Amino acid sequence: MGNDAVLRGILVIDDDATNLRMLQEILKPAYKVYASPSGERALNFLENRIPDLIMLDVEMPGMSGYEMLKRLKGDERTASVPVLFLTAQEGRDKEEEAFRLGAVDYILKPVTAGVVRARVDLHIELGDYRKRLEKLVNQKAERLGRMRNSTLKILSGVTAWRDGGVSGHIERTTAYVSLAVKGLSEADDPAYRVTPQYGDCVIKASRLHDIGHVAIPDSILLKPGPLLPEEFAVMKTHTVIGAAIIDEAINDLCDDSSFLTAAREIVISHHERWDGTGYPNALSGEDIPLSGRIMAIADTYDSIAAGNPHKAPLSHGEAVRIIRDETGSHFDPRMIEILGDAFPTFADVRA
Ligand SMILES: [Fe+2]
Ligand SMILES: [Fe+2]
Repeated sequence: MGNDAVLRGILVIDDDATNLRMLQEILKPAYKVYASPSGERALNFLENRIPDLIMLDVEMPGMSGYEMLKRLKGDERTASVPVLFLTAQEGRDKEEEAFRLGAVDYILKPVTAGVVRARVDLHIELGDYRKRLEKLVNQKAERLGRMRNSTLKILSGVTAWRDGGVSGHIERTTAYVSLAVKGLSEADDPAYRVTPQYGDCVIKASRLHDIGHVAIPDSILLKPGPLLPEEFAVMKTHTVIGAAIIDEAINDLCDDSSFLTAAREIVISHHERWDGTGYPNALSGEDIPLSGRIMAIADTYDSIAAGNPHKAPLSHGEAVRIIRDETGSHFDPRMIEILGDAFPTFADVRA
């Protein structure tokens, strides 16, 4: 009983009872063996338990071994379990078919104890090795993710301090972006429906939307009151400077990971306007990335409802009214329609 917990499980599927018994005898000393006389019965068994290895007879009445193998590989619960084929006929085409469908090896019948043990031991060991590697890769990926998050915190902290330190603009816009992403995740329209992975990227990347502010002189960035046209021209460059900063990271890594792509999109496009009168590229409509259109709403709402050095804050109601007025000129009308229910929740964040 106590031993079963540590023994590796092997499922043997063969319609020939003699063969089934023989394999059980060979494997019993080292493994926990489950025997199944047909593919159908084996599928039932697999509902409750996933073995470490499967031995599968090719020729069976009912579901053939090939069909069974296809099922195993098509189910994510069993796709990575190594399968050893048992075949009575030698033939290149049979072997090739088995490997093509995903078997790791095959054993010719009649089987001998030495060959069965050697092959099974080898593939169990390889399976263990693969699992250890997978675990290691996952640990590394998790560590990388944590490092990326802390780098992100440092960078957004730098931007926040450049913006006057205590304004909270980045924290709040990230919260508005999260609410918008949540609203869009349930959108009926596939062009607006945000997947969890993309949504996560957009939320994290939104923290960097104003990273280009680091290059804008204090006299402009923190100027009390409205900017002069020549000052506004300098202010506008925070989009292209921010994109250039992220481009360097993309080139350095030789990889445009979905996060960096989303960050670049947001940084360069959060001041574009639906009617094409925005900056820096005067993009219009759906040429503006979805992430940039989301950010534009969050960013504008916050700069109205919390104000910025250049203008005094207005109420939540005023901010929503201005956004509605500017729908179709500044903002994507379909997106505003989908997000209709999300706006009241913006007020909670603001408070
Ligand atoms: Fe900006
Ligand atoms: Fe902003």
